[in-house]
Amino acid sequence: MYIGEILKTLDRVSTGVPGLDELIGGGLIPGRVYLISGPPGSGKTTIGVQFLVAGARNNEKGLYISLVDDPKVIIQDMMKYDLNILPYAKSGKIVFYDIGYHLLRIEQKLTWRELFVKIKDVVSAERPKRVVIDSFTSIEQLVADPENKRREIGNFIRSLEELDVTTLVISEMLSSDNYTDEYYLASGVIVLHHFMRNYTMIRALQILKMRGTPHDSNIKRVRFSKEGIRVYNEAPF
Ligand SMILES: Nc1ncnc2c1ncn2[C@@H]1O[C@H](COP(=O)(O)OP(=O)(O)OP(=O)(O)O)[C@@H](O)[C@H]1O
Ligand SMILES: [Mg+2]
Repeated sequence: MYIGEILKTLDRVSTGVPGLDELIGGGLIPGRVYLISGPPGSGKTTIGVQFLVAGARNNEKGLYISLVDDPKVIIQDMMKYDLNILPYAKSGKIVFYDIGYHLLRIEQKLTWRELFVKIKDVVSAERPKRVVIDSFTSIEQLVADPENKRREIGNFIRSLEELDVTTLVISEMLSSDNYTDEYYLASGVIVLHHFMRNYTMIRALQILKMRGTPHDSNIKRVRFSKEGIRVYNEAPF
């Protein structure tokens, strides 16, 4: 353990989401694993892409590991924002890696450990500074040993931290009273919400936990724009 590593907590990595860094002490502590969770269509993939684009603008390589969706479709969807995703994908500044393609086609189910070794190998080979893994929840039915999840996720998070990458793990929100292992093991958890109010969809975000950072846990207003998601330091209603 080196003092230089400990002092890393003084550096911050921008989330790329306007309004969010200010709520978490200037950004994410580098080299850690964070969870972005939320219901369908709440903006999880958008935040993941904003995070990688913020890195790419800073000449940091990003890696988007898709566990289910076809990366082609993700790029198509994300091109609707003014984030310039296509040139970054073409130049390899952001690499989209399709693990889902292999996962869904192999005959025999992988164990959590085999899956994580696969992901780790990709990260080691690509040597990115930022990683997004989208999405965790949906692979739970695809592994051979669901009972080993907590232990293996714990090992996996430690091994990612050793690779010196800042990682966003995307997870679907099943129900707020049923927190899954990744909520406990990640260094920070950001939850997206949406509510119906007077026939209008209200979008919001909540910093549920952010280790090593003072923050408030109140629900904040979120709006979509051409630049992706923006967070406002105000109550949603
Ligand atoms: N400009 C916009 N205005 C309002 N809503 C928008 C805008 N752009 C995108 N959206 C919303 O964002 C949603 C898609 O966001 P995104 O794909 O990031 O969500 P997600 O949480 O990853 O979804 P999924 O659970 O399907 O993976 C769309 O379904 C749409 O509702
Ligand atoms: Mg998504």
